Amino acid sequence: MDEAKEAKAFLEDTTAKFERKFHELMLRHRGEIPAVAKDGRYDNRADADIAWSPDNGIAWWTNGFWGGIMNQLYALTGKKEYLDEARASRRIIDGCFLSEFYYGLHHDVGFMWLPTAVADYMLTKDDEARRRGLMAAQLLAGRYNSAGRFIRAWNDPMEKDSPSTKGWAIIDCMLNISLLYWASEELGDPRYRTIAENHAETTMRNFVRPDGSVRHIVEFDPETGRYVCDYGGQGMEKGSSWSRGQSWGIYGFVNSYRHTGRQDFLATAEKIADYVISAIPEDGHIPVDFHQPRGLFFEDSTAAAVIACALTELERIVPGKGYGKTAFTLASTLAKTRADFSAGTDGILQRCTGSFNGKADKEVNFVYADYYFLESLLKMQKKDVMFW
Ligand code: GLY
Repeated sequence: MDEAKEAKAFLEDTTAKFERKFHELMLRHRGEIPAVAKDGRYDNRADADIAWSPDNGIAWWTNGFWGGIMNQLYALTGKKEYLDEARASRRIIDGCFLSEFYYGLHHDVGFMWLPTAVADYMLTKDDEARRRGLMAAQLLAGRYNSAGRFIRAWNDPMEKDSPSTKGWAIIDCMLNISLLYWASEELGDPRYRTIAENHAETTMRNFVRPDGSVRHIVEFDPETGRYVCDYGGQGMEKGSSWSRGQSWGIYGFVNSYRHTGRQDFLATAEKIADYVISAIPEDGHIPVDFHQPRGLFFEDSTAAAVIACALTELERIVPGKGYGKTAFTLASTLAKTRADFSAGTDGILQRCTGSFNGKADKEVNFVYADYYFLESLLKMQKKDVMFW
């Protein structure tokens, strides 16, 4: 078999294994929204004994990915049971729009309603899905700081004496702004796109370092928009290189290029991608932070899956530079060494890590890692629903 045929067979086989396992998981966890699996068992975020503040419960930022997997599997197979499950999970998170849950909402409304509402609308033209997507976009636009031209991350912490986050922006938000590009298209109203484009420009100017790596958190003065400082965030330390942040950076700038046609966004995506490719260890397993010492090898398979998605998109735009090859290597390494396709256990991708310094969620399974793993497999076969 030649290389292309082998790759095609591998992708088809891995996708079939993914679907088989998630069909079983869908039947076992109908009506729940799994977030994390530890030792092969989902630990639903709302029940977890972790003191997450208002973002806990239905507003947890990854709650759109269970429905996202279901929507992708519905598009792939046409099985209505996946669409029904996607809608059931979206209706649970739609509860965030009710006043008693409203304070829990944050910048991650894109991660929540793009894979659920917007994907559903793209597939079915369902009007309820469209309205939920537009409501989420309105909330995201409302977080825009016009002095600094950025979208504010998080809400002020509940704990007394914790620093305010009013001037904080984060690299992750580059994925959320796809919701604004979509809303502009859908409504024929440029306001949302302008906010998204300004946010991407601010991120390009203030987050990307000369070597192509990106910062996680940048603080601006919320009154004047002046750059104040940056933080290591979920990475190892200030100045280090959180791998999932790098993946959000590549994917976010590829998408901003797709939506605006701006060459500086494409050049930024390539700059971060080239940095990441030079930092990937030989075995293809992605550390939580590219600066972490050798021998201290906490991994984040989520970052590997997101990088695979981003590089596959980049290959389509600038073919022949090797981005697609690296994407395939990452996804096939995950499939061969980090995927649990066995029946009876919850979750697929192993060794996903929330943050370098956090105590919880080290080398576990995340539902959003499984989502991006599936998206990467489908994207390489041109079978994904693309809503970013
Ligand atoms: N968006 C938050 C994270 O990547 O952990």
